[in-house]
Amino acid sequence: MKAELGYCSLLLLLLTVDVWGQQSRPRPRPKPPTTRRPPKKEPEPKEPTDFPPVIIGPPSSFPDCPRECLCPPSFPNALYCENRNLRKVPVIPPRTHYLYLQNNYIDSVTADPFNNATELKWVNLGNNRIRSIEKQVFQKLPNLLHLYMQRNLLKEVPSNLPAGLEQLRLSRNQISKIAPGAFNKMKDLALLDLHHNRISDSNLAKNIFKDLKNLVQLNLAHNILRKMPANIPNSISQLFLDKNNIEEIPQNYFKDFTNLAFVRLNYNQLTDKGLPKMVFNISTLLDLHLAHNNLTSVPLFNSHLEHLHLNNNNIESINGTEICPFTLSEDVNDPDHVPRLRYLRLDGNHLTPPIPLDVIMCFRHLHSIVI
Ligand SMILES: *[C@@H]1O[C@H](CO)[C@@H](O)[C@H](O)[C@H]1NC(C)=O
Ligand SMILES: *[C@@H]1O[C@H](CO)[C@@H](O)[C@H](O)[C@H]1NC(C)=O
Ligand SMILES: *[C@@H]1O[C@H](CO)[C@@H](O)[C@H](O)[C@H]1NC(C)=O
Ligand SMILES: *[C@@H]1O[C@H](CO)[C@@H](O)[C@H](O)[C@H]1NC(C)=O
Repeated sequence: MKAELGYCSLLLLLLTVDVWGQQSRPRPRPKPPTTRRPPKKEPEPKEPTDFPPVIIGPPSSFPDCPRECLCPPSFPNALYCENRNLRKVPVIPPRTHYLYLQNNYIDSVTADPFNNATELKWVNLGNNRIRSIEKQVFQKLPNLLHLYMQRNLLKEVPSNLPAGLEQLRLSRNQISKIAPGAFNKMKDLALLDLHHNRISDSNLAKNIFKDLKNLVQLNLAHNILRKMPANIPNSISQLFLDKNNIEEIPQNYFKDFTNLAFVRLNYNQLTDKGLPKMVFNISTLLDLHLAHNNLTSVPLFNSHLEHLHLNNNNIESINGTEICPFTLSEDVNDPDHVPRLRYLRLDGNHLTPPIPLDVIMCFRHLHSIVI
């Protein structure tokens, strides 16, 4: 039965992406011209003296095009400076809306190059070596919607971020500090990605996420949390907390969420004791990941749940009568009384086939079960 797995995770991935796609508002996006990456990956230089030389771009018809960048005539609002071994940000022409600076060796971001770039909507600074950002940089960028700074060396969330930001990616840094109020004014922020940092419970002020009234996805996976983060806005649809040290979920934690569809808690320290009986009875939830924890029984869940990952726990038995969201005596021909669970992973536990009959009887939409 494992053969189906690859396909299903693919499906799941597509589903996640699709849901995300539906949530974000359509916006114009320039098609990037095909820029060539360096053909072979050299070993990453450690010292500045090892950095390869800056790659100069082709001559441009725009007099304000920085020499190390590409200014395609067909996309006057885009500035392509990625993969060019840059050490610093070039002077950004005022016409720029989309700025690509990923995969360089930039270690600090200063305000000067951005002085006249007030039209910027989209900045990608991913995969550089940024440790510091001058406070004034973002004050001059009132129109910024997307800021990507994943894979850098930041130790804290940048301050003075523009209030209108919709996407903020800060994954794979070394962040352990988030100033209280860092996200206070960001009521349009839909995506906040902080995965793979060093965030602990004490780094999250009690109300740190509270004002993010339009947050759709929060990713705090791969940090060092021991508790579920408090006061998550109830707009949230996707909550990712894999790879932390979370032991329990407070009673009623999910009670006020009205859009929650995806919850991932793989690789934590959850036990049966840490899960209040009805904590996952969330009618909007479609996809629940609890793999690689320390559960000994299957938690109860709502009849609307479609995907459940419980692999690599300590589960010894599964009783379909107990976990069935409906009593089996209810009218089995009423389609409203058929749980929607389609995919169930139980491998890596202490279960052996066959699948108990009461599981099959209850979950009649189940088309894939890995045991
Ligand atoms: C920025 O704008 C100011 C005022 O319009 C102008 O004097 C200056 O030359 C501009 N700087 C750059 C780098 O374009
Ligand atoms: C689970 O939640 C539904 C609402 O979604 C509610 O009707 C039902 O009573 C709850 N089940 C239990 C056992 O609390
Ligand atoms: C899981 O729980 C059992 C007791 O319920 C304990 O002996 C074991 O060490 C736990 N395993 C992990 C990985 O925490
Ligand atoms: C499953 O649970 C029900 C209700 O608690 C119980 O009556 C039944 O004996 C259990 N089935 C097995 C196989 O343990």
